[in-house]
Amino acid sequence: MDSKKAAGEKAAEYVKNGMKIGLGTGSTVYWTIVKLGEMVKEGLRIEAIPTSEQTEKLAIELGIPLFKPYPSMKKLDLTIDGADEVSSDVNLIKGGGGALLREKMLASYSSVFITVVDHSKCVSELGHFPLPVEVAKFGWELTSIQIARLGCAPTLRMANGAPFITDNGNYLLDCPFDTITNPAEMTVKLNRIPGVAENGLFVNMTNILIVGRADGMVRIH
Ligand code: A5P
Repeated sequence: MDSKKAAGEKAAEYVKNGMKIGLGTGSTVYWTIVKLGEMVKEGLRIEAIPTSEQTEKLAIELGIPLFKPYPSMKKLDLTIDGADEVSSDVNLIKGGGGALLREKMLASYSSVFITVVDHSKCVSELGHFPLPVEVAKFGWELTSIQIARLGCAPTLRMANGAPFITDNGNYLLDCPFDTITNPAEMTVKLNRIPGVAENGLFVNMTNILIVGRADGMVRIH
């Protein structure tokens, strides 16, 4: 069995009747969402908020009831999402798919955040994967200069020959830091720069980590 599928499907077991959940974005949580679609057809009652237009489309196709955030909303019971890197102390780099802002908003407004990855995402220290940083379109060049001062050479993410636009109408800078020894400090430094909407470091957010192996087994932390 595919290791992403193994991890993604395992996470669906944590979803119970009546829960309000956040649905992540990417090829690993895809398997969670497909499984939840099957469970909903079999009678599971849940409501979900998607973290991207891509996930919203998939959830609608699968018949998963969706809702939008509202002012008096209590915390979500659970959010499930993938990651691009997971460090040994279970901090994450996310945003490879460009959905990091909505992903971080829902993960931080959830009682439980489950991260699902295949074993190739596990590293000792974060930073080999270029850190995605979502920035305002206006003056992105200036934001990029300020981020570069933190020790990387950001590149503007492109798609089909034009700048990639996030679901929030922003640009993305991919920032190769090599190693990020103090992700908590880096988060603060990045988010202090005017023009930064959010960065892809998820520090101390994961409650349950599910790692899929090639043989279809999973490790749960
Ligand atoms: C989306 O923006 C990302 O944060 C994804 O969660 C991350 O890129 C993992 O995606 P895969 O599961 O497709 O590797």
